Amino acid sequence: MRIVVMVSGSGTNLQSILDAVAAGFLNVEVAAVGADKPCKGLERAKEHGIATFVVSPKDYATREAWNRALEQRIDDESPDYIIFAGFMRIVDADLVNRFAGRIINTHPALLPSFPGAHGVRDALAYGVKITGVTVHVVDAGVDTGPILDQAAVPVLEGDDESALHERIKVQERSLLVTTIKKLSEGLID
Ligand code: GRF
Repeated sequence: MRIVVMVSGSGTNLQSILDAVAAGFLNVEVAAVGADKPCKGLERAKEHGIATFVVSPKDYATREAWNRALEQRIDDESPDYIIFAGFMRIVDADLVNRFAGRIINTHPALLPSFPGAHGVRDALAYGVKITGVTVHVVDAGVDTGPILDQAAVPVLEGDDESALHERIKVQERSLLVTTIKKLSEGLID
């Protein structure tokens, strides 16, 4: 199974994928790692000798042009799956349809609660006692696609956004890797 991983930030979820591949736990080929801007995640890929690319919205006159360029760049790698591992951009319906059912996203909340860019902050502000992480298929909505797996994380007394997010990310990294493993073994589709 060939995957392209898309990142925007520190890339610790990407790192967990790369480590699982190196350890022989995941039998997938990371064809390339892409981003919308230079970031630590791309550096992690380079350290593993993996091809990287940046398709930045700043370089395109319209959102449409950016989506078409990103779609083409991903397609150039002929991936079976595209993993949005902390990729903080919304892609359009045409891009989603081009890779229908093959884009996987990880979201740091228990969807359908708290979709969007601030899932951890919103869960904390609401006062929930249990939140968590969701790995799901991307559809044309924002964090609305079919759920593949979830893990719960308790909110602790005194948690701030950063402390809670760090605990969620521990669960997120392992849930993402095990979900990719199941996809690669045909256990889910
Ligand atoms: C993850 O929690 C992801 O779900 C969220 O941003 C975080 C990215 O972390 N959208 P990293 O870049 O993988 O370290």
